[in-house]
Amino acid sequence: MADTRESWQTRLGFILAAVGSAVGLGNIWRFPWMASENGGAAFLVVYLGIVLLVGVPGLLGEFVIGRRSKRNPVGALSSLSDSKGWSAFGHVFVVTAVLLLSFYSVVGGWILRYFGASFTGAYFGNPGAYFSSINYGFEAVAFHVLFLFLTAAIVGFGVKGGIERATKVMMPAIVVLLVGLAAWGLTLDGASAGLAFYLSPDLGYLQTHFLDILPAAAGQALFTLSLGAGTMVTYASYLGEDRSLPVDGTFIAGLNTLVGVLAGFVVFPILFALGSGAGQPGAGAVFVSLAGAFAALPYGQVVAVVFFGVVALAALSSSISMLEIPVSFLVDEYGVSRRKATVAFTGLFLVTGSVNALSAQVFGFVAGTLVNLLLTGGLAGFLLFTGWVLGTDAVAELRSGAGDLGQRLATPWLYAVGVVLPLFLVFTLLSSLLPLLG
Ligand code: PHE
Ligand code: NA
Repeated sequence: MADTRESWQTRLGFILAAVGSAVGLGNIWRFPWMASENGGAAFLVVYLGIVLLVGVPGLLGEFVIGRRSKRNPVGALSSLSDSKGWSAFGHVFVVTAVLLLSFYSVVGGWILRYFGASFTGAYFGNPGAYFSSINYGFEAVAFHVLFLFLTAAIVGFGVKGGIERATKVMMPAIVVLLVGLAAWGLTLDGASAGLAFYLSPDLGYLQTHFLDILPAAAGQALFTLSLGAGTMVTYASYLGEDRSLPVDGTFIAGLNTLVGVLAGFVVFPILFALGSGAGQPGAGAVFVSLAGAFAALPYGQVVAVVFFGVVALAALSSSISMLEIPVSFLVDEYGVSRRKATVAFTGLFLVTGSVNALSAQVFGFVAGTLVNLLLTGGLAGFLLFTGWVLGTDAVAELRSGAGDLGQRLATPWLYAVGVVLPLFLVFTLLSSLLPLLG
């Protein structure tokens, strides 16, 4: 089976696919949602710290597991250890992937809906009422299904012919269009207020609310880097031994952060342009505020078409990386063909996504708290596995293809991912669970 397994065509192809997975609704929709509920720039500071100190070494942990095993997350944990426990634990990642795409394709559907409605200006009259009329219910189900079919079509064409080819076109387009949108955003009246909320942290808030910010910021940092679900394990499993994981990993995290910050330069000025601020919390606030701003601003309709088009591309290049997790699981472990595996899981997502599309309560819980918990726990699992099961093998794997610096950093990195980061992640988990227990 190993010789017929798929692989990336080029190094750039892998990098763009991984960046494509990272850059998505996390940067444009979930970040402003989480930030507006957790102190704006204070949240940004904690989030960026975690991206750097936990995200980059954590990304390398997932890469090492993927490239070493050349398997999906379940197969990786079972083939690299003799323990039944780890192989059972691996199935958690299939569950995580299912939960992720189940709400993600609902938001993807909203985006497609807004993309279409931008041409006609359907939401211009009353953005709040428009969002309420499409967010949960029949329309939401229909557009979730459309988004899911687009995702499945790309994944069905395979790693090279589908994912790599699609993301190679999408990523440059996203960056170019975002730069244009940011330039437009900075000309708006609200730009300085928006950027102040986004960029200058309220240190008092940071101190008094640190333990509330921490789990949300950690969950968001992992979410934006696609960590803790097994996406990066899966993508690295299609990678050869000649690539430098530390270089590729740093590059991917850096590019995601750049695009994320760039997206902030688009979203926050627009949100503040009408003087409404980012004050209203909730998963839908970003949609209502953005739509309201587009309706009122110069060239708003053109900008809206471009904006929702970009976001749709960013969302698709992420959703395919979610679907690829369970598909690669069926292909690797049960020898099912890629087409059949894609169809099978698409059928499942039709149902699980519809539940999210029908209930604001389910959606809010899954997309917020549950995802924060699963990604944090999932990454802790991967890193404990790297440190305690792979050990020196992980060091050897990280070194393979790496330059001088990578060679020297490999051993300190192993202590970080084996001990320090799991302690941090478990502390984060506890600080989010304790309040839930009352
Ligand atoms: N990183 C993606 C985003 O920010 C979401 C994602 C999470 C993708 C986990 C894959 C796995 O939109
Ligand atoms: Na993406």
